[in-house]
Amino acid sequence: MRIVVLVSGTGSNLQAVIDAVAAGTLGVNIVAVGADRPNTGGVERAAAAGIETFVVNFKDFANRGDWDAALLAAVERYEPDYVVSSGFMRIVAPSFINAFPRRYVNTHPALLPSFPGAHGVRDALAYGVKFTGCTVHFADAGVDTGPIITQRAVEVLPEDTEETLHERIKVQERLALIDVLDQLAATVADSPA
Ligand code: GAR
Repeated sequence: MRIVVLVSGTGSNLQAVIDAVAAGTLGVNIVAVGADRPNTGGVERAAAAGIETFVVNFKDFANRGDWDAALLAAVERYEPDYVVSSGFMRIVAPSFINAFPRRYVNTHPALLPSFPGAHGVRDALAYGVKFTGCTVHFADAGVDTGPIITQRAVEVLPEDTEETLHERIKVQERLALIDVLDQLAATVADSPA
């Protein structure tokens, strides 16, 4: 199964996928890692692992439509079976979703549909929930919306900060993402060529 992973940040979840592939416990081919901005940890991690990388810098484009088209072209070049948004902090255009129907997977550090957006951990903590967690889902053109594939719950501890809670969520998020990719790889292997 060919996957392209999109990142905006440090890429620690991407690293878990890279490590699982290297360890032979996950049978996917990370054909490229792309980012919407320069100098991301995610792209650096990919390059260090010998994976092809690309940047479609949002700030380099005069308008949103041009960036959408450039991102789609950059990803399509790698002919992925699935595209994974792993901390990719941009909403993609409907044209992108249409190009990868039920083939664009997103992870989010909250139990969707609660607490979507860029601050899922902070918002859950501020609300005072006693359990939060992570969601892996097929993304549509909304903000962290689309059919849920799996979720894992994480207890909020009284002493938690956004950072400590996010770290515990990420432990579950990595397991969930690897598990989902493993399941999707099995379906790709089963489907006729
Ligand atoms: C992850 O927790 C991911 O769920 C979140 O960004 C983090 C990226 O961490 N994504 C969102 O909040 C999307 N709404 P990483 O760069 O260390 O893998």
